[in-house]
Amino acid sequence: MGPIIGPKNGLEKSLPYNTVMSHITPLCLIYYCYGSSKPSSIPGPDPSTEQDGNLPDISRAGSLHEYLLDLHKTYGDIASFWMGRQFVVSICSPELFKEHQNVFDRPPELFKLFETFLGPKSIQYANKGDGRKRRNNYDKMLAHEKLKEYYHIFQNVADDLEKKWGQLVKEEHIPLGQYMSAFAIKVVLNTLFGEYFTTDKEILAFRRNYDICWSELERSLTDQPDPDSPRVKAFEDANKIITSLIKKAIEHRKKVPPNSDSELLIDSLIDNASDEEELLSDAITYAVGGFHTTGNVLTWGFYFLATHEDFQEKAVKEIKQVLGNENVDASNMSRLKYLHQILDETMRCAVVAPWAARFQDFDSELGGHKIPKNTPVIHALGVSLQNEKYFPLPNKFDPDRFNTENSKGRPSMAFQPFGFAGKRVCPGYRFAYAEAIVCLVTLLRKFKVKMVEGQVVTPVHGLVTHPEEEIWVKIQKR
Ligand code: HEM
Repeated sequence: MGPIIGPKNGLEKSLPYNTVMSHITPLCLIYYCYGSSKPSSIPGPDPSTEQDGNLPDISRAGSLHEYLLDLHKTYGDIASFWMGRQFVVSICSPELFKEHQNVFDRPPELFKLFETFLGPKSIQYANKGDGRKRRNNYDKMLAHEKLKEYYHIFQNVADDLEKKWGQLVKEEHIPLGQYMSAFAIKVVLNTLFGEYFTTDKEILAFRRNYDICWSELERSLTDQPDPDSPRVKAFEDANKIITSLIKKAIEHRKKVPPNSDSELLIDSLIDNASDEEELLSDAITYAVGGFHTTGNVLTWGFYFLATHEDFQEKAVKEIKQVLGNENVDASNMSRLKYLHQILDETMRCAVVAPWAARFQDFDSELGGHKIPKNTPVIHALGVSLQNEKYFPLPNKFDPDRFNTENSKGRPSMAFQPFGFAGKRVCPGYRFAYAEAIVCLVTLLRKFKVKMVEGQVVTPVHGLVTHPEEEIWVKIQKR
């Protein structure tokens, strides 16, 4: 799961929501509580106002990612700024990422807004021994060996989607984001939670209610609802339904325990969580973290292919050469090199998860500067992904950047779309590649995907980067 930040707006705009729902503590409110004299030699702007720090500048930039692009351009690879009265450091170079690569703890305040969904005991906020222990327990369920068992589920879901697209008449306009997010939800719930989510009824309920919650959270950042408004009620009702769906899946699994050789993530959560609240929070975290990003990667991926017919045809050629009529599985997946390049270039060009963050509860050093204890340090992953030094013409979509020849000499730390620090890289990264490649193969070998003309596609750098409006495509049978 990527970081939380308002879409196309400033952090200060998350303030109003707090007045509506006391259990959401907006980022800026937290930062107002700290003191404000510059505690380090790290270059950076003065606060615009004593109270808000640089929050108004972030708002003007459009998003934290866009602000960080400007900040690093002006002040270099390590820069500081103020979120309210909190001093914050941001780094964006492979060398500085390397210096921070052993830091595990995440500053919980930066992710507070999401607590309504995930619950206070989510792994998202678990640090030190507790966080490491949980990762140790749950990472196994998404590891390379385990993944082999999931390919047939990815394939079933992709086949369903192919069938649905096949029934759509030629020239019908298809809402790409909706289809890709439904695919990603179905995949993640089927693989991690077992048979409770095999019927469309539960999947649709999850998706519908997730959409209500998420769009309300985003909307509330700029447009505060009245405490008694139907919007607040709708949000709370939808949130309850998501919680109750996950609770039911957990209860169902407890009643019908699996054989020891068919354990899923949900079983590991049931066995290891310290109490019911932690179990529920982590189940929701993996469910949500598992689809939101991948759904957007697939949406952006098909968008780039629909706008670059030559790359789409090159992908189809590779599929034919490597697979013939076979499906993707663990044995042939790594030979689909061009499809991997397409996914990497999609995550880079669309900046799907713009930043991560860490902190240390002791004074430390970074890039030769002192970092006072408890200072949040942002990993500007997205700034690095758009660094001209490593990715010339960074806004150009070009999967060949990632072929062996063109990757020579580029430090691996320059491309870290899943985070990198403290062995806390996204636990779902292998899972994400595998499900996305199954989806691309299944649809591309059957359909030519084209854009519906006349659309302006604008990215919104929120929690993950998503298109401002639905992207409409048309398909043609091959
Ligand atoms: C292309 C798709 C994905 C992208 C770009 C992505 C990106 C990220 C990033 C940047 C982080 C934060 C890492 C850090 O703090 O350094 C993260 C964390 C996380 N991701 Fe992903 N992710 C993706 C897919 C998935 C999938 C498929 C799952 C689950 C099946 C998942 C589950 C999680 C969880 C649970 C965390 C929090 C882990 C922790 O607190 O230690 N993600 N992801």
